[in-house]
Amino acid sequence: TGAFTYDPGFTSTASCQSKLTYIDGDEGVLLHRGYPIGELAEQSSFMEVCYLLLNGELPTADELEKFSWTISRHTMVHEQLAQFFRGFRRDAHPMAIMCGVVGALSAFYHDSTDIHDPQQRMIASHRLIAKMPTIAAMAYKYSVGQPFLYPDNSLSYTGNFLRMTFGVPAEQYEVNPAVEKAMDRIFILHADHEQNASTSTVRLAGSSGANPFACIAAGIACLWGPAHGGANEAALNMLHEIGTPERIPEFIARAKDKNDPFRLMGFGHRVYKNYDPRATVMQKTVREVFAALNVQDPLFETALRLEEIALSDDYFVEKKLFPNVDFYSGVILSAIGFPTSMFTVLFALARTVGWVAQWNEMITDPDQKIGRPRQLYTGPTQRAYVPVGQR
Ligand code: CMC
Repeated sequence: TGAFTYDPGFTSTASCQSKLTYIDGDEGVLLHRGYPIGELAEQSSFMEVCYLLLNGELPTADELEKFSWTISRHTMVHEQLAQFFRGFRRDAHPMAIMCGVVGALSAFYHDSTDIHDPQQRMIASHRLIAKMPTIAAMAYKYSVGQPFLYPDNSLSYTGNFLRMTFGVPAEQYEVNPAVEKAMDRIFILHADHEQNASTSTVRLAGSSGANPFACIAAGIACLWGPAHGGANEAALNMLHEIGTPERIPEFIARAKDKNDPFRLMGFGHRVYKNYDPRATVMQKTVREVFAALNVQDPLFETALRLEEIALSDDYFVEKKLFPNVDFYSGVILSAIGFPTSMFTVLFALARTVGWVAQWNEMITDPDQKIGRPRQLYTGPTQRAYVPVGQR
């Protein structure tokens, strides 16, 4: 293989050094800047985790207040962006809208191309974190034909997002504190996950010096796939298709059948060969949301039973396939009222902080070069051109 190592899918290539996120896939450990995800999810807030990822340390009370205030100053989007939305078909998938709209922000912020100015980088990062809930809510409103709601900066980051999504101008919207807490926790669980496909995409796009808004749009495009962020939508669709616990064995058999492309969605992970620690928190959060909203969903029972059956099946045990973050998230999100098409949008919203933190880290890394993988060429050897009349 000459001077290159052939590593399709980068299963054993470290593309960068990073101080952000540590994963021990065998032990099921996930740390952000050293802090365990379980502790952050239970005790912290999404704003605090954003600060931690961007700045390296947990904020003091003053720093947190200032940071939250700064983010809230950037929540509005340019009025002209509303017209950009209107160019989409009303049945456009919200992820298609997100790719387009976030990419379009690069045209509003040409100043952000000065990526070697730390001040400009920080402003671009704040803008992205702040505007994602507004844009995500607008994508939702557009799909249901309701008017866009402006941000209300007297609310929390997450409360504001819920109001912009589910509120209508004609009525006062009361944020349910239990839902707000659960949503905030879901954002924490998705905030960063080291060099996954979309983050690597953002780093690769950014390595050429591209505008950060365009780089994040590239990350959104990558996240959309069903093997990545699209898995939460696919997992819930699968649970609907399974319907009742009696049909689980049929789907388990299909997942094991190598002639059938079907996979258990929300199961398995490139790095975790143990229970995904995010899935543990997510399962607990389902119970809390159901209790707060006083709902029951038979799909949750199906999911729990599916997990139980899969984890006692040799195929899943031998291949070390466990539920991942996406397995239970769909059940909660639909209880809160989101249509499945919005699930990956919520993932994108939360992952934006990870993307921008990784992008900042890359730009300031002295080893940083343009990302340029090599290949093993397997095409024809050199041959002479044959004019078209002689072929
Ligand atoms: N159901 C059935 N078999 C599976 C599954 C599954 N969900 N996942 C992996 N396998 C099998 C796979 O067929 C392969 O078998 P064999 O060695 O006999 O060919 C073996 O397990 C290893 O799988 P792989 O595809 O080589 O592993 P990978 O690291 O390339 O893929 C994955 C990881 C997450 C893409 C994969 O497990 C998968 O497709 N899972 C379902 C989709 C999903 O839930 N994705 C969300 C990932 S977590 C959130 C995120 O990061 O976005």
